[in-house]
Amino acid sequence: MDRIRIRGGNRLVGTIPVSGAKNAALPIMAASLLTSEPVRLENVPRLADIESMLALIGELGATIRRAGSPGEPELEIGVPRVTATEAPYDIVRKMRASVLVLGPLVGRCGRARVSLPGGCAIGTRPIDLHLAGLRRMGANIDLSGGYVEAALPRGGRLHGARHVFPIPSVGATENLMMAAVLARGESELVNAAREPEIVDLADCLVAMGAQIEGAGTDVIHISGRETLGGATHRITADRIEAGTYAIAACITGGELELTGIRPGLLERVFDTLSAAGARIDAAADRVRVTAPDGGLRAVDVVTEPYPGFPTDLQAQLMACMTIADGSSLITETIFENRFMHVSELVRMGADITVRDGSARVNGIHGLAGAPVMATDLRASVSLVLAGLAANGETTINRIYHLDRGYERLVGKLVACGAVIERETDADSVQVA
Ligand code: UD1
Repeated sequence: MDRIRIRGGNRLVGTIPVSGAKNAALPIMAASLLTSEPVRLENVPRLADIESMLALIGELGATIRRAGSPGEPELEIGVPRVTATEAPYDIVRKMRASVLVLGPLVGRCGRARVSLPGGCAIGTRPIDLHLAGLRRMGANIDLSGGYVEAALPRGGRLHGARHVFPIPSVGATENLMMAAVLARGESELVNAAREPEIVDLADCLVAMGAQIEGAGTDVIHISGRETLGGATHRITADRIEAGTYAIAACITGGELELTGIRPGLLERVFDTLSAAGARIDAAADRVRVTAPDGGLRAVDVVTEPYPGFPTDLQAQLMACMTIADGSSLITETIFENRFMHVSELVRMGADITVRDGSARVNGIHGLAGAPVMATDLRASVSLVLAGLAANGETTINRIYHLDRGYERLVGKLVACGAVIERETDADSVQVA
């Protein structure tokens, strides 16, 4: 199994082009199931999760053409006919976002059978809100044999409905938005999630002919259409990847310019890093993050739905706080059990105590390299950041998590001065 080896201590200095957002690309690829015409997607990141979604929609009848250049990858997805309506366990177990085909399949075909995603490393993560919403739109939902089966009586069409979410859910908002665009009549999503990836999905659906208003606010209104058409859409930049590298600049005492992003979408993150002493110089499509000369100050953080501090950057910020001056309280409110990185950071010398949903991080002078391993994507990358700042060598195992969500991670870091390489069991290779 591959692993990453890091020799810590180098300041990161340079420019990192930010890739397209995985969490926008995945629902938008699922949305291509809503039309018989081709959907052309630009700025799609090359990641294992994208390949999993391609395999899934391929099973359902999509033909996929890869176009563009290596630096500017594009996908053309055509689903003239949905040939199967089942998302099998083997694909769903690899990637929870597979559940996003549920809304489009029921919307277009009147039925779907999707394996239940089950538990995952960061908590139980149910899909009850997705299912309650489809029920409200007229689908019968059956759970049996580890699968959810959604069907409309006599293969009919979903009808519009008003959904009031008890908590904002990104995936449920996306699934129900995709179901509603082909439903008969009007739908309203109240207390909807406001994440920028939802706005990106709505923009693509509107380009396909859907009628959607209010995406990005907590009330989304959708008027169902009989059919949708093809479209060309550029996937928005990955704000979580950008935030990860912004924190990388801070933890290594470096200076990074992150390009191809909309800094406004990371306002809370940049405010947090500013409070920790970093200098943030934002322009329209880029930002420069400069670590303070005298080291970082500890800051407290609470994860919240957008526009709050993202749970997907909690682990990375915690890595950074392990060497800040003072004591930081990091509170996770979105997912229970999202502190798996703590025990690994402690193995590198960090002083962290977890109580209920909060981690108390007492800053120390320096981390020490160690062999570590992580159980989810963001926890894994937090260990990479810790390794970049640590004295000595860190090896990170189970790096397939990183391949799911960070395009060319090693190459991007090497270009900014990191000493990091990817090793296979057989040999050791430097990836550019
Ligand atoms: C998405 C992101 C993930 C991010 C998360 C929160 C994708 C592919 N993934 O995940 O990276 O960490 O948003 O920003 O975009 N919940 C329920 N019932 C449901 C659905 C959700 O109780 O039916 C709960 C979850 O357990 C969690 C909270 O709602 O506590 C938020 O989850 P949700 O926003 O749905 O996350 P995902 O869409 O799975």
